[in-house]
Amino acid sequence: MAKLTVEDLELEGKKVLMRVDFNVPIKDGVIGNDNRIVAALPTIKYVMEHGGRAILLSHLGRIKKEEDKPALSMRPVAERLSNLLDKPVTFVPVTEGKQLEDAIDNMNNGDVLVMENTRYEDVVDGENVKRESKNDPELGKYWASLGDVFVNDAFGTAHRSHASNVGIASNMDQAAAGFLMEKEIKFIGNAVDNPVHPFVAILGGAKVSDKIGVINNLLSKADKVIVGGGMTYTFYAAKGIKIGNSLVEEDKIDLAKEIMEKAGDKLVLPIDSVIAKEFNNDAESKIVDNDIPDGYMALDIGPKSVDLFKDVLKDAKTVVWNGPMGVFEMSNFANGTLEIGKFLGTLSDATTIVGGGDSTAAVQQLGVADSLTHISTGGGASLEYLEGKTLPGIASISEK
Ligand code: 3PG
Repeated sequence: MAKLTVEDLELEGKKVLMRVDFNVPIKDGVIGNDNRIVAALPTIKYVMEHGGRAILLSHLGRIKKEEDKPALSMRPVAERLSNLLDKPVTFVPVTEGKQLEDAIDNMNNGDVLVMENTRYEDVVDGENVKRESKNDPELGKYWASLGDVFVNDAFGTAHRSHASNVGIASNMDQAAAGFLMEKEIKFIGNAVDNPVHPFVAILGGAKVSDKIGVINNLLSKADKVIVGGGMTYTFYAAKGIKIGNSLVEEDKIDLAKEIMEKAGDKLVLPIDSVIAKEFNNDAESKIVDNDIPDGYMALDIGPKSVDLFKDVLKDAKTVVWNGPMGVFEMSNFANGTLEIGKFLGTLSDATTIVGGGDSTAAVQQLGVADSLTHISTGGGASLEYLEGKTLPGIASISEK
């Protein structure tokens, strides 16, 4: 069944509580990357244009003690939002009480208000009580009482069961998805539950242990699973290929063996690597097939692997990509990730989805994001969604 969306709601004159994920990188009050704010704009603008009064709630970082609060205030985020909307945004520096309630009462149709970081509620009177993060029932009820309708657009937070998403939803008659949430469910949810075949998954990143759930779930759904990045070398070790000083998780070698036995020829591993003696962009590098000599570590997939992966990908109709192929942050070891990203951009018949975290950073940094179908705003949420888990934030949104 489809989820209720913001388009199904009557918004004119309504106080619209909106959970967004504005958990953006921030240092000394300066926002590093505002993608998540930009991604929420369509829903915020829709609410404004339809006469709603948008009351935005988000967490920012993790608050464990009183001293964590000032650096994690939502004020700079509210300012950035105001710039992006080209309209004043009211920032309320508290998460409950008269100041907040008065500010909401003073809103006009089309106005936007940003409340202080929901995780300020995690530390009360100096105690780490986690009211927000443990979904304190009174807090969810209180926040729900501030609005008439609830829109959840925070896909990045959907793997959390917190007061500001699940708590509010459980205290409202209905909870609707925003456009971003709807888009994430459509692309990632469909890819996992209802992919158009051939379906190829590309999994990279450093550790097998971070991706076990995703590997297992996607092996049961995809036609091929390509593995690249640092975790390759735990699989190499399991195959008895020499790995030199490459990254390896010794305690996951048996698991890698099991996965390979189960997967058969569905699993595609790199056949060559770019190697160096040091973890350093300026380190002298060379390319080797399979075995990595002693004293060297693998930092990227090699050109033969790129060709092999392109061949596996060329007829794909659905591609899900999670995790880079090498140390893309270093320009000399970014080629594998870049080539795969560029190639995905040429697959005009395929739905190409990048699922969160490092892979999102990689396609953005390498300039290939625009040619892909969907770049998820979720990190942990995308990973858990790809694992096939039910995300509480999505489950708490009403069905149509
Ligand atoms: C994220 O960035 O993955 C989400 O905003 C969730 O943040 P959290 O891991 O601190 O709960």
